[in-house]
Amino acid sequence: MSWDRQVSIKTEQELAVMRQAGRINAEALAAARAAIHPGASTADVNAAAEEVLKKYGVYSPFKHYPGPYPYPASTCVSVNAELVHGIPSKGRKLKEGDIVSVDCGTVFEGFVADAAFTAPVGEVAPDVQRLLEVTEGALQAGIQMMRVNNRVGDVSAAIQQYVESRGLQVVREYTGHGVGRAMHEGPQVPNYGVPGKGMILKAGMTIALEPMVLMKLPHTRVLADEWTVASADGRPTAHFEHSVAVTESGPVILTTTD
Ligand code: MF3
Ligand code: CO
Repeated sequence: MSWDRQVSIKTEQELAVMRQAGRINAEALAAARAAIHPGASTADVNAAAEEVLKKYGVYSPFKHYPGPYPYPASTCVSVNAELVHGIPSKGRKLKEGDIVSVDCGTVFEGFVADAAFTAPVGEVAPDVQRLLEVTEGALQAGIQMMRVNNRVGDVSAAIQQYVESRGLQVVREYTGHGVGRAMHEGPQVPNYGVPGKGMILKAGMTIALEPMVLMKLPHTRVLADEWTVASADGRPTAHFEHSVAVTESGPVILTTTD
């Protein structure tokens, strides 16, 4: 089945449920963020998020997600060159100057929320701080294009242009995606594209936009654990993600606490 066939339009009621999923997911990510400090392990960061999911009696769609082997955790915690899909581990300790990406999903009443951020551990180098700012800015630039009758290519191109005009690179191998009853629905939303091309956005579409940004070469490799994706050149990478609804009154970010 092609990605384009798996697009689902959500009703107002369904969007309200997705907003609830997004709030819980945001609370889990906030707890993960609060657990980030020098000496903490990536397993500690995962545990902080998991505690929130447990409090609400919900689970993460990441856990047991099919891949080379079922994904073993509720979150992905990726450090420095690791871009996405880092597996939390007790042995992986954060230190001052690192950056850490946390990606978390929530299933609430049958609907999925999916979001991620990258944060510094203490003070980081200025070019790395800028990498984080540009990636977050690219997410906002993409969200602003998520309007009725715009096309997927408008969103993709806005992200690409925001990043490349600042001298950084977008990933090609991984994309944003529709989100709803399944974590991955259509449409696929790359972080690069051509304005005016691709599917027309309609009210009730919900999309997880997720710019993944590299500093120099836009190439990735999968590490020996078969899940973790890292920059091929070993340079730091960043990832920000929100689940966002297209509505008649503009884009609505679902994955915030407020
Ligand atoms: N946010 C990621 C995505 O959209 C999370 C998937 S990780 C996995 O694909 F473990 F579930 F695969
Ligand atoms: Co996602």
